[in-house]
Amino acid sequence: MPRIFSGIQPSGELHIGNWLGAVQNWVTLQESYECIYCVVDLHAVTGKYDQATLAERTREMAIGLLASGVDPERAVLFVQSHVPEHSELQWLLNTITPIGELERMTQFKDKAQRFESVPAGLLNYPVLMAADILLYRADLVPVGDDQTQHLELTREIARKWNAEFGGGEEWFPEPKPLLTEAKRIMGLDGQSKMSKSLGNTIGLLDSPEEIWQKLRPAVTDPARVTKRDPGTPELCNIYHLHRYFSPPETVALVAENCRGARWGCLDCKRVLADNMIATLAPIRARALELRAQPGRVDQILGDGAAAARRIAGETMREVRERMGFLEAATHDSRLTTHD
Ligand code: TRP
Repeated sequence: MPRIFSGIQPSGELHIGNWLGAVQNWVTLQESYECIYCVVDLHAVTGKYDQATLAERTREMAIGLLASGVDPERAVLFVQSHVPEHSELQWLLNTITPIGELERMTQFKDKAQRFESVPAGLLNYPVLMAADILLYRADLVPVGDDQTQHLELTREIARKWNAEFGGGEEWFPEPKPLLTEAKRIMGLDGQSKMSKSLGNTIGLLDSPEEIWQKLRPAVTDPARVTKRDPGTPELCNIYHLHRYFSPPETVALVAENCRGARWGCLDCKRVLADNMIATLAPIRARALELRAQPGRVDQILGDGAAAARRIAGETMREVRERMGFLEAATHDSRLTTHD
């Protein structure tokens, strides 16, 4: 069975954009692949971050994933920093990654502008991502289009390592992107992609009241000023969201009533809110249950880390050997104490 690896940052809030764009897909993929899913906390410290909330954000992200249907019986779910092999492989891959390639990454160029003094970790972020994927010798990586450049670099790093250390084999498979139907979910500002840092999101676990408070002022068709102006649903972000949360009959009705100036935007939003609340209710209920049992969540993550480490430890043993390191006499005991 082909193996899948993917990672998500512990942003602290799983929002409907992440859910529609990535997490639903993760859940579906569990049926056909061996899936390894990781909350990438080491990636979340490449800039200024709040150390007081990192642990909680990490656990919350895991709760959101579990509540959405990531199933620890079928997939491995773990926290990146719990498996130290990620950092170790990253170091080794650093030694074969050209700085020029890293400086070319559009995400790096973008983010580097925000720093007076750019941390080396920001530059090396894609090498850690390559280590994440190669550590499990994953075949496929579901990612959004903003990550395809990083994945291309991962393939290049794999090729380079294979050429130097693979002994003629393609020892690290070159991971392929798994691009699904591009769901680009716009934020409530109707301007930019939904993103926690832009404050234009609806949280997956928001309460019914919060959902309504956020939808009510959301941007609609800018040309529609009053209820009597006929609207253009295709230009309206709220209409777009209806297509993910409302049944087809409702979507058709919404379009008709908008074009015919029979419904105002607020009427349309109320229907969306009700459908969104109903869709998310079971996820929210599961999340509240998990939040009440942080020990159980940590146990699931502990089991996940142990399962991940069994694979990662095996990869690193081979990698060290192929790269010519002296084997440590204590390796075996070091690995087994964590099982
Ligand atoms: N960089 C990815 C993002 O910001 C997260 C990530 C880290 C990842 N490691 C990964 C995604 C490995 C896929 C595979 O979305």
